[in-house]
Amino acid sequence: MKKNKIFVACDSTNILKIKKIIRETQNTKLKVGYKFGLEFLNSKYGRSFLSKLKNKTVFADLKIHDIPNTCVSTIKAIKDLNINYLTIHISSGLAALKACRKISGKTKLIGVTTLTSLNNRSLKEIGYNKNVKRLVSHQVKLAKKANLDAIVCSAHEVEIVKKFFKKEIITPGIRFNTGAEDQKRVVTPKQAYKNGSHWLVIGRPITRGNIRKNIQTLIDHLSQ
Ligand code: C5P
Repeated sequence: MKKNKIFVACDSTNILKIKKIIRETQNTKLKVGYKFGLEFLNSKYGRSFLSKLKNKTVFADLKIHDIPNTCVSTIKAIKDLNINYLTIHISSGLAALKACRKISGKTKLIGVTTLTSLNNRSLKEIGYNKNVKRLVSHQVKLAKKANLDAIVCSAHEVEIVKKFFKKEIITPGIRFNTGAEDQKRVVTPKQAYKNGSHWLVIGRPITRGNIRKNIQTLIDHLSQ
């Protein structure tokens, strides 16, 4: 049987904690990749740790959001890290997305649609006049135009995304044993896969407390 795929969000600046997360999430039931964000990559030893990490699926969640030239230079600056997946905000614009896709090489370029910490009210607050569903479907069309390799959205929008985008769909905002905290558009792992997510991104529900126990809770939840 095909294994369910998760990216564990390694959101810490502490190398020992990161090593612990990697060690204690090893298991035979799930395919596990590791996601490193700005917090870890900007930490004192983060970059060099990543440059030595072997035989892991690595997701650099840089969420690049800038003008085309700066986006491209950023990707070139991390070429030595052998990153498998890298994020860019779709709202960087079509020119930036296309320029990055041109030079991203073997690294899969993921378009971030609308953060899972935002809801319709937050979008209005920022100044958007589309609701989450409309905005995400608009953003996905742009990602398709730029030939991006994958999409990040909440598992609530997978059905809409699939209509326009046939490649990988990665969904954060996953909850199964804790409250939503700062996330607004949350879904359980089981429901997220059912909706068609290819990869789930899970941070605190796995990395906080007893990691091995949390992984087992997740495996049990998926097998029910
Ligand atoms: O701890 P939690 O499971 O909420 O972590 C989710 C992870 O996914 C965080 O690292 C966050 O930066 C990332 N993420 C997200 N929503 C997005 C894109 C990425 O929560 N739209």
